[in-house]
Amino acid sequence: MSNLEFPTLETTRLLLNRLTTDDREPLFAIFSDPDIIEHYDVERFKKINEADQLIAYFDARFDSDTGIRWAIRDKSSGVFLGTCGFTHWNEFDHSAVVGYELSSHFWGKGYASEAVGTIINFIFSDDFHFYVHRVEALILPSNQPSEKLLKSLGFSFEGTLRGKCYWNSGFHDMKMYGILRNEHLK
Ligand SMILES: CC(C)(COP(=O)(O)OP(=O)(O)OC[C@H]1O[C@@H](n2cnc3c(N)ncnc32)[C@H](O)[C@@H]1OP(=O)(O)O)[C@@H](O)C(=O)NCCC(=O)NCCS
Repeated sequence: MSNLEFPTLETTRLLLNRLTTDDREPLFAIFSDPDIIEHYDVERFKKINEADQLIAYFDARFDSDTGIRWAIRDKSSGVFLGTCGFTHWNEFDHSAVVGYELSSHFWGKGYASEAVGTIINFIFSDDFHFYVHRVEALILPSNQPSEKLLKSLGFSFEGTLRGKCYWNSGFHDMKMYGILRNEHLK
């Protein structure tokens, strides 16, 4: 069990903080939206309790210090816009995997750049409780918005992992993007 306090972050327009059970409905709306799942290697939600399970999973990951997921909220209205965060970090290889999704109502307004840029700054900063050397992202080759977002944040394309993920009843190639600490700080 981790004794860490959940780090709340702020950007110009956004508040990034811990998800609560009150977020179950907007979270379900996101993960049951076919537009979100079109290029995202997750299964589409069919029942609201899948949102409860996801919130519990995010909580357990934070409590075991194996990952962190923030709610992305509009700072002035408090409206839940989506989530972003990191998985798979450990003290041995000093790397983490970034993930994110935003309600389709809010796409194209720069919110993902603002939120994901902020959590990347945070994980590479001295405020983070251990030294991170590398952040990576795996995306479906069709996911142009995500690819553009990663490039604009300074990630480099590192290659294609063939048949890397099983999703939507088939095996899919995944594109690997990565950014190193010294590239981020440049
Ligand atoms: C990927 C996602 C988070 C981007 O969110 P967003 O808030 O629309 O992104 P932004 O507005 O910050 O834009 C980021 C960049 O992507 C570009 N972009 C946004 N939507 C785009 C689209 N539909 N097609 C092409 N480029 C797009 C923007 O122009 C911007 O590039 P720029 O900085 O060079 O102008 C959003 O599309 C999403 O939630 N998708 C579904 C879930 C998903 O695929 N998650 C990632 C899994 S790896």
